[in-house]
Amino acid sequence: MTHKWWETATIYQIYPRSFQDSNGDGIGDLDGIRQRLDYLLWLSVDAIWISPIYPSPMHDFGYDVADFCRIDPIFGSLESFDRLIEEAHAKQLKVILDFVPNHTSIAHPWFEASRQSRADPKRDWYIWRDAAPDGGPPNNWISNFGGSAWTWDAGTEQYYYHAYLAEQPDLNWRNPNVQAAMHEVLRFWLRRGVDGVRVDVMWHLIKDEKFRDNPPNPAWTKNDPEIDRLLQIYSTDQPEVHDVVSGMRKVLEEFENRVLIGEIYLPVEKLVAYYGRNLKGAHLPFNFQLLNTAWTAPHIADLIETYEAALPERGWPNWVLSNHDRARIAARVGPEQARVAAMLLLTLRGTPTLYYGDELGIGHVEIAPNFVRDPWAKHEPGLGVGRDPARTPMQWGASAYAGFSKHEPWLPLTPDHEARNVAVMSDDKTSILFLVRSLLKFRREHESLSLGGWRLLSQNSDVLAYERCNGNNRIFVVLNFTANPQAWSAPISTKVRIAISTFGDRRGEPIGSTLSLRANEGLLIEAA
Ligand code: NOJ
Repeated sequence: MTHKWWETATIYQIYPRSFQDSNGDGIGDLDGIRQRLDYLLWLSVDAIWISPIYPSPMHDFGYDVADFCRIDPIFGSLESFDRLIEEAHAKQLKVILDFVPNHTSIAHPWFEASRQSRADPKRDWYIWRDAAPDGGPPNNWISNFGGSAWTWDAGTEQYYYHAYLAEQPDLNWRNPNVQAAMHEVLRFWLRRGVDGVRVDVMWHLIKDEKFRDNPPNPAWTKNDPEIDRLLQIYSTDQPEVHDVVSGMRKVLEEFENRVLIGEIYLPVEKLVAYYGRNLKGAHLPFNFQLLNTAWTAPHIADLIETYEAALPERGWPNWVLSNHDRARIAARVGPEQARVAAMLLLTLRGTPTLYYGDELGIGHVEIAPNFVRDPWAKHEPGLGVGRDPARTPMQWGASAYAGFSKHEPWLPLTPDHEARNVAVMSDDKTSILFLVRSLLKFRREHESLSLGGWRLLSQNSDVLAYERCNGNNRIFVVLNFTANPQAWSAPISTKVRIAISTFGDRRGEPIGSTLSLRANEGLLIEAA
C-alpha cells in the first residue's frame, strides 16, 4: 500500500514575519526562511506551511490580501519565492502556502472596482446588501474581531459584509466568476511548484442565501469575545460550502501530489464533513481539538477516541497543538507539560502540525500595551484575545535579538531568549528541542508511528497510555499529565524498553510489569 507524502509527513508552520529576518528591517522574510532550511532538515520535519506572504496593507498581517499573485516586498519577490521553492525541494522539503479565499483587502483592485458603483461588473464579487429599514446593518452578524460585520459604503449606499476587519471584505463565492478567478490563483501557485495549500477559514466561504439573523448564544458572558455572543448558524458552515471545497480539490488534482488543508473551527461531527463526499473535499480538515481541551488524561483520551470514531473510512487524521491564532502550548500547559504535549502530538495517528518555536518551548510573551500589534487585541482590549504573544520571533542564538534580526524585531523576544534558543538547546540532550527532534526522527523511522493504528491501552485521571501498531510492530506511549510521580501497570507481555523519555534520559531502560513515571514524564516504549 503506498501512502501520500502528506500522510507520513510532519508539517511545520512558519509565521513568516517572525522566523528569520535577512535584510535587517526587524521583520522575517523569504530569504530568511531559505537560510534556515538546514535547521528544518536537522529538526526532521517534512513540509513547511508559510502564513500569507502576498502584498497586503497588513491590517491583519497578511490575511488582508491586495494581490493574490505577488509577494509583499516586506517578504521578498517572486524571484525569492522561486528560489525558496527550488532550494526546499532540493532538500526534499515540501512547501505549503496559505490561500486566503474568503476575503480580500479593501485595497484589492477587485474591491476597488466593486465599490465604484452598483453597476460595476465586480459589484457582485463581494457581498453588498441594502440597509435594514431603520438604516442599520442588514442583519445581526458580528465580525470575528468584534462589532458589526457590516460596513456602510457612503458612495454606493449599501453595506458590505466582512467576517473579519472592515478592511477585509468577504468575496461572494456564490458568484461563478469569483470561483473561476480564485481557481486561477490556485493554479498560479501550483504551477510555481507549491505542494499544497492551507485554506484560510474554509468553513466561512458560503453564507446563508437569505442572510437570516444568527441566534443568541446562551452560554456567552461579558468576558467572552463579542463574536461568541451569537451562534454562527447562518454566517458559516452552509451546506453549499462543500461544493466550493470540492471545486478547489478538483483544481489541485490537475496537478500531482498536492495537499488541500482546511482551517475549520467546528465541532468534530461537523468538521469531518469537510473530507467531502467520497473523500473529495479537503485531504486534511485541520483538527484543532488540542487547542481548546482541558489538559487532563480523561479529556484527551475522550477527544482522541471521539475523533477516531468520527473519521470517515480512509479519511486521514491530523493534529494541531498550537498556531498563530492561539496561545502557545507552553503558555497553556506550562513548560513541563509542553514536553508531554510534544510527545502526544508526535505519536498520535495522523499528520501532525508543529508550530515554529514550540520546539523551543517558547511560552507566553508579555506585550506592553503600546506594543500591541494584533487588530483583534486592539478592537477588544482586556479580554486576553491578543495573538501577538504567540507570534514573537524565533530564537536562534545568544547574539543580539537572538539571531532573528540585526534590528529590533517587530514583536519582542521572550525574556529567557539567551537560554531558550536553537544554538544553546541543540547542544543539550535534555532540552525540549532535542526531545522534539528525537520524536520526529523516531516517527520517521517507525511506520507504526507514521502509519500504524491507534488503540487506547488504559486511562485514569492521571495517566494516558496507548499503543501504535503496524503489523507486529508495536510502540507504547505512556503520558503522565500530572505534576506527581505515577505508577503504571504495563499490560504488555513482550519484553520492552524505553526508547524516549520526555526528560531525555532512561533510553534503553527495560520495563517490568510496573512502570514508574516521574512528575510530568512521558515515555515512548518499544520492543526490546
Ligand atoms: C484565520 C487566520 O488564521 C487568522 O490569523 C486571520 O486573522 C483570519 N483567518 C482572517 O483571515
